[in-house]
Amino acid sequence: MRRVALFLLAVAAVSAQSVQYDESRKIWLLSTRVSSYAMGISPDGELQHLYWGGPLWRIADVPAARTKEDISSFDPHEMLENEEYAGWGGKRFYETALKITRADGDRDLVLRYQSYKIDGDRLSITLKDIKDDIEAVLEYRAFADAGIISRRAVIRNNSKQAITLESAQSATWYLPPGDGYRLTYLSGRWAAETQVNREPIHEGTKVLESRLGHTGHNFNPWFAVDQGEANEEHGSVWFSALAWSGNWRISVEQTPYKQVRVTGGFNTFDFAYPLKPGEQLETPAFYGGYAAHGFGEASRLLHGLELSDIEPHGSAARPRPVLYNSWEATEFKVDEAGQTALAQKAAKLGVELFVMDDGWFGKRNTDHAGLGDWVVNPQKFPNGLAGLIKTVNALGMDFGLWVEPEMVNPDSDLYRAHPDWVMNFPGRPRSELRNQLVLNMAREDVKEYIFDVLDKLVTTYKFRYFKWDMNRIFAEPGWPEVSAREQRELWVKYVWNYYEIMDRLRKKHPELEIESCSGGGGRVDLGVLRYVDEVWPSDNTEAFDRLKIQEGFSEAYAAKFMSAWVTDVPNMNGRSTPLRYRFLVAMQGALGIGSNLNKFSEADTMLATQMVTLYKRIRETVQFGSLYRLLSPRTSDTTANEYVSKDGKEAVVFAFRHSQQYDTNPPAIYLQGLDPRSVYQLEKWDGTMLEKVSGAYLMENGFEVSLRGDFDSTAVLLHRE
Ligand code: DGJ
Repeated sequence: MRRVALFLLAVAAVSAQSVQYDESRKIWLLSTRVSSYAMGISPDGELQHLYWGGPLWRIADVPAARTKEDISSFDPHEMLENEEYAGWGGKRFYETALKITRADGDRDLVLRYQSYKIDGDRLSITLKDIKDDIEAVLEYRAFADAGIISRRAVIRNNSKQAITLESAQSATWYLPPGDGYRLTYLSGRWAAETQVNREPIHEGTKVLESRLGHTGHNFNPWFAVDQGEANEEHGSVWFSALAWSGNWRISVEQTPYKQVRVTGGFNTFDFAYPLKPGEQLETPAFYGGYAAHGFGEASRLLHGLELSDIEPHGSAARPRPVLYNSWEATEFKVDEAGQTALAQKAAKLGVELFVMDDGWFGKRNTDHAGLGDWVVNPQKFPNGLAGLIKTVNALGMDFGLWVEPEMVNPDSDLYRAHPDWVMNFPGRPRSELRNQLVLNMAREDVKEYIFDVLDKLVTTYKFRYFKWDMNRIFAEPGWPEVSAREQRELWVKYVWNYYEIMDRLRKKHPELEIESCSGGGGRVDLGVLRYVDEVWPSDNTEAFDRLKIQEGFSEAYAAKFMSAWVTDVPNMNGRSTPLRYRFLVAMQGALGIGSNLNKFSEADTMLATQMVTLYKRIRETVQFGSLYRLLSPRTSDTTANEYVSKDGKEAVVFAFRHSQQYDTNPPAIYLQGLDPRSVYQLEKWDGTMLEKVSGAYLMENGFEVSLRGDFDSTAVLLHRE
C-alpha cells in the first residue's frame, strides 16, 4: 500500500514539474523524463531560447536571457541572439518564423513578450508586435512520459487592418552552441522513399521541403542532428518531426556566428495567407526531442509518442490485422468471382482483413477513366459490393476498400458535371498526371461531396477499412471562385479539409480504419498519423529494396503504422528473393500479402500459412515494442533488427543477408534492450527450440547467425524465463 502511495507521489511530482516558471528571472523550463527545454525573456522583452538537452531539475541553474552587443554595423545583436520565434522586422535577416505585409504596405514585425499561461503540461506564451495588435501565441506541450515536447504558433490579427502572412512557421529549434554538427534526413522519390542521408552541417542553409501539395516522396518532414559522433546507441541526438501533410519546409541553418537553428512549418513557397481583423491561423505542430543514447533512442521516443499520443486510438489501438490487398495480383481487373477466389485463398492463410484495391467503380478498367464516379461497376459486381463483402465476412475476414476521392479523370461523369471542381487557372492548361486532375478539396462543396461519398459507402456496406490513395502531385493550384487575395489559402485549407473528412468519418463510424497512401509513401507524417491506422510506405515491394526503405521509415515512424506486403517475384527491379525472405522482411511491420494467390504452389501456401501464424505470435512485440536497428543495410551485407516487447518478456530478431562472398560468416549481432540478468529461451522462426542464453551474453558477446548464399534470412524469438 505504502509502495503504491509513493509511486503515485512520484508520478504526480513528474507531471507537476513538466512546466516550471521562474517569475523573478522570467524563465520557463519544460521537462520530460529524458529531456528539458528552456526559454526566457531578455531585458528588452525578446523571448530567447536558453536550453535544449538532457533533463534538468533546477530552473535556478538556467542563466537568464540577455541582450548581446552588436559586433559591427553588419552584425547587429539581433543576429547573434537565439530568438525563440522571431518576426521579420528590425535588423533580422536570418530565417525568421513569421513574415507579414499589412494592407498599408508596412512589413515590419518585431515580437515582444506579452503574457503567458500554464495549464498542466501545456504552456502558452503570447508575443505581440511592438506597435500593432498582431500576436503570435506560442503553444508548448511537454509529453513527460513520451519524452517529447511539441510546439506550434497561432498567429492572430487583432489589429484594425488586414494583413497577409508570407511566412508562418511552427517553431525554430536551436542546437547548443558548438561545432561539427551533422544532419540526418530522409529523402527519395516514388518507389524509393525514406532513404537515410547523413552529412555535415556547414555555414549556410539546407532546405528540406515539399511544394507538391502533399507530404511528398522527395523529403519526409523529419530530421535529426548530432555532434558528429552519435551512432545507433550512443551520443546526443536532437530530432524533430513536423505534423503536416501539405506543403512544408524545414530549413537547417548555420549562421556565421555558429548558431545552428532549424525552422519549420508551412512552406513559404507560393504562400500568402490573408488574415482580416479578428482572424487567426494555426501552424502545424512540430514535435521535438533529445536522446542521450543515439539515433536508436531518438526513434524509440518518437515511436512511443506516436503510439500513445498521436494515433487515433492511442494506447487502446488494436494490433494491425494481417491484410490481403488485391492490387499487385489483379490491378484493375477486379470482379466478384476473381476477388472471391482470392479471398478464399487469403482466408486459408490466416488473413484477417481483405482489401479490394483500385478498379471496382465507374468505368475504371484502366487509369484513363472512372476516378470520381464512386458507384460500383455493375458489370464487375452485378450484385453491388454486398455479395463480396458477405463472402469475405463469412470467411472470417473484415473488408476494406480502396478509394482515391480527391481525384477525377476527365473521362468521368463527375468531371463532366463539375469541371469547375478541379484546381485550375481559367483559360490555362489543366495538367494531367496518370490521366487525372486534382479536385480542389479546399472548397466547401467539394469537401462535403467527398465526405458524403465516403460516408455513403461505409453506411451502405458497413465495412471496416478505407485505403485512401492520392496518386499525383498538384499542378495549376488556382481557385478562381475566391478573390485573388484568398487564392493561396488553398495550400492550407486543402489539408485541413482532408483531416476534417477523416475526423468526421471516424467519429461517425468508430469502427472504421483508414490507411494513408499516396502512390506509396507520399503522405507519411505525424499530421496524417492522427487520423489513420497505418500508412503505405512505398509502391516498391521488392524485399531487398524494402530493407532500406523500411530502415529510413523506422527512423521516424513506428512499425505498427508500416504496412508491408509480401508480393510476387520477379519484382519491379527484376529481382527475385525467396518467399521466406519476403515474409520476414514484411513481418517487421504490419504484415500484408499482395501476391497473386492463384499462382501459389502448395509449398508456397504451406510456408505462407506458417509465416502468418508466426507473425500473429510476434506482432504485439513488433508493432508496439521497442525497435533496435542492429545492422544497417546501408553499411553491411547483413541487416538485423530486434524488437523487444513492452513488458520485456518477448523479443524477436530478424536477420537478412545478400550476396555472401568468400564463405564468410555474417558479423556477430549484438542484441540490445534485454535484461542482462535474465535467461532467454531462443526459438528459431520454424519453431525449433534452440539454446537458453543470458541477456548479458547476448548483448556482450553477440549472437551468431548462419546466413549463406543470396538473400538468406532468419528470425529468432526470445522468451524471457
Ligand atoms: C498506388 C498505390 O500505392 C497502389 O498500392 C495501388 O493502390 C494503386 N495506386 C492503385 O491505383
